Amino acid sequence: MRVAPITPVITLALAAGVITQASGAAFEPQDFNVTAALENIGVDVSALPEPKESDLSKRSLLAPCSLACTALTILFGTDKVLSDGTSAYDSFTGSYWSAQQGELNPSCVFKPAKTVDVSTLVLIARLYQCPFAVKGGGHAAWAGASSIEDGITVSMENFKQVQVSSNKQTVDIGPGLRWVDVYTAVEKDGLSVVGGRMAPVGVSGLILGGGISHFSNRLGWACDNVASFELVTASGFAITVSPTSYADLYWALRGGGNNFGIVTNFKLVASPLGQMWGGQRIYLEDTFTDILNAINQFANITSIQDTTGLRNMSEMANLLNEGAPAPGAYQTWWGISLKMDRQFLQFILDTFYAQEATVADVEKILLIMAIQPITEGVLKAMQKNNGNALGLDPKNGPYFILNFNAAWNNKEDEPKFHHVIATTIDLVKAEAKRRSLDNTFVYLNYASEYQDTIGSYGAANKQRLITISNKYDPTQVFQYLQPGGFKLTKGAPNPNTP
Ligand SMILES: Cc1cc2nc3c(=O)[nH]c(=O)nc-3n(C[C@H](O)[C@H](O)[C@H](O)COP(=O)(O)OP(=O)(O)OC[C@H]3O[C@@H](n4cnc5c(N)ncnc54)[C@H](O)[C@@H]3O)c2cc1C
Ligand SMILES: *[C@@H]1O[C@H](CO)[C@@H](O)[C@H](O)[C@H]1NC(C)=O
Ligand SMILES: *[C@@H]1O[C@H](CO)[C@@H](O)[C@H](O)[C@H]1NC(C)=O
Ligand SMILES: *[C@@H]1O[C@H](CO)[C@@H](O)[C@H](O)[C@H]1NC(C)=O
Repeated sequence: MRVAPITPVITLALAAGVITQASGAAFEPQDFNVTAALENIGVDVSALPEPKESDLSKRSLLAPCSLACTALTILFGTDKVLSDGTSAYDSFTGSYWSAQQGELNPSCVFKPAKTVDVSTLVLIARLYQCPFAVKGGGHAAWAGASSIEDGITVSMENFKQVQVSSNKQTVDIGPGLRWVDVYTAVEKDGLSVVGGRMAPVGVSGLILGGGISHFSNRLGWACDNVASFELVTASGFAITVSPTSYADLYWALRGGGNNFGIVTNFKLVASPLGQMWGGQRIYLEDTFTDILNAINQFANITSIQDTTGLRNMSEMANLLNEGAPAPGAYQTWWGISLKMDRQFLQFILDTFYAQEATVADVEKILLIMAIQPITEGVLKAMQKNNGNALGLDPKNGPYFILNFNAAWNNKEDEPKFHHVIATTIDLVKAEAKRRSLDNTFVYLNYASEYQDTIGSYGAANKQRLITISNKYDPTQVFQYLQPGGFKLTKGAPNPNTP
């Protein structure tokens, strides 16, 4: 049999501001021309500053990002491109959930409004070799997860679409929305979606990292309930990714974070919902034996405060956010996963209290440990549409996530909180190994910069993610030009565990 040589013909067409790509041999040909791709989407490249030449004699004195920001400003104006020293820039950097993220100073902030703007951004970043970060709701806690020093921070805040389909089976939502906005909009149609539990959290990071929801026992995590994604790839193409279109990418986006492109629309599966039962119950230490029994068995006990009741999802999301620290404090989040066992829960509680006592004198807003079960129901629901990338083995469950969160006001106290949590985790993991209750999975959306999330999905899943990344992003734009977040090959973003 004779195999014809591969002719990588990629056609670009501009339809309703969205670039599509005809099926060709390679997703991005080896001789992909960034300048030509920009011209194809209507950008007059001759009006932009010359990219830095490698020839030293011609080298511009300007850094690549100052050129890239100038180019974006020429194309989009100062409403969409904020530069350092303006009040709009300061209010943007001040809007992150954690102080650590807000302390970074990007060369400029870009606020695309349409999918084609996002395509332009990716190609401009490539043309000038200027790194960027993408921000959805900005709730990832550590510096650089969705912010960047120098470079371009891309804020998705203008993507606020909420469009319920005529048959009410799905809803298109924009990556700039917060969960309360989604619930408020869709409950008018008697619907809800599998999403976050607290009002102000962003939709995009939560979905791309997994997404624990009130409905997860029945329906799986948020990433398991996406009908399709609109994704801008490294080549600036906007493609629809679903179980039947780019199915490999669909699997990868269910837990793969920001490694495969920039999402400009999520089509979520919707379910009918009027009101739901829920709220917060607060208990004192003298009931903790019963609490651990209840978590272990999923029963319940008498609380000192109880706000459970019937309410709609937006009200629920607001209620559950009460008592959460206001944005702008120093934050750290960490997560590990373990197998469920009653005696072990007691060990964990005792260990946490003993460690917490070592920072009793440090001024804090909070230092908490949360136990979140990953039930058999969740594991089963995660298998739909060929499963996700998280690597949770349904045969070994149920599991639970142990999630640590500290918040404080004094910058210099950070090492103390990192140390006390890292130590607690070390002690718990060591005991888990002794009891054969350890599990490798680290939940990306709760992980600190000192944790390896992608590696925790297992060697086979990690390799599959890398293969998919090389197929759709052959020059590895989303690894090297978007250095923040959890990368496919890097391990923990910060190797210096406290
Ligand atoms: C108060 C609070 C409550 C929470 N509750 C829950 C909960 O109920 N369930 C749960 O599972 N998690 C929960 N989390 C964790 C939450 O999932 C993460 O903080 C998540 O990162 C939030 O997403 P975001 O868009 O706000 O974050 P961001 O910091 O904006 O983004 C996080 C990551 O996603 C990437 N990203 C953002 N937008 C895009 C895009 N459009 N395309 C590609 N990549 C993108 C960013 O580059 C970054 O790496 C909670 C966190 C907080 C602080
Ligand atoms: C890339 O495309 C531009 C614009 O069409 C063209 O001027 C340039 O010569 C091309 N570069 C290469 C290496 O083909
Ligand atoms: C949801 O609950 C809030 C608070 O009670 C209420 O204001 C809102 O009207 C409710 N929404 C719907 C669609 O019923
Ligand atoms: C748990 O709470 C529910 C709802 O309040 C109640 O109906 C049930 O009896 C409680 N179970 C136990 C064991 O107390």
